[in-house]
Amino acid sequence: MSQADDTAGNRRDFLYYATAGTGAVAVGAAVWPLVNQMNPSADVRALSSIRVDVSGVEPGSQLTVKWLGKPVFIRRRTPEEIEAGRAVELSDLPDQGAENANIASDATAADENRTLDESGEWLVMMGVCTHLGCVPLGDAGDFGGWFCPCHGSHYDTAGRIRKGPAPLNLPIPPAEFLDESTLQLG
Ligand code: FES
Repeated sequence: MSQADDTAGNRRDFLYYATAGTGAVAVGAAVWPLVNQMNPSADVRALSSIRVDVSGVEPGSQLTVKWLGKPVFIRRRTPEEIEAGRAVELSDLPDQGAENANIASDATAADENRTLDESGEWLVMMGVCTHLGCVPLGDAGDFGGWFCPCHGSHYDTAGRIRKGPAPLNLPIPPAEFLDESTLQLG
């Protein structure tokens, strides 16, 4: 191989790696910082309510909205998803508490404590993996809930960590229904 060919080869290699590098940056951009996500200061909180029209969300689907710069999953669960979530024993959960959920601190991570309504149909969670902050995929993973492809964390139909490196359940933000189809976050 002449030196010119060799240089061309190196150049092609360089372009290939540069492209691969761009892909890596794009993946990196999907990582959301976890710092202080559940502890916004009072002034931030005052400005931070948003209203979401959920009338188009069918059972078995979810809406992802951005709130305080982070994704929030608004899931309308099917009867099967509710049943699966409620059938789980607390002792099977790596994270059995509710410290990172916007509910009473002595509450458990029982399915009933994580949903917005008593029927358990509406589940609203931060869409941020508690391992290193990637955005988990819905309808995926070994427990029929969410799966984080970054390092393989599996969450169940109530957003509770079941397998993989993530230490905590997906956090529950402050949320309430203002009327039948309007949800307020914050
Ligand atoms: S960031 Fe989700 S498993 Fe590592």
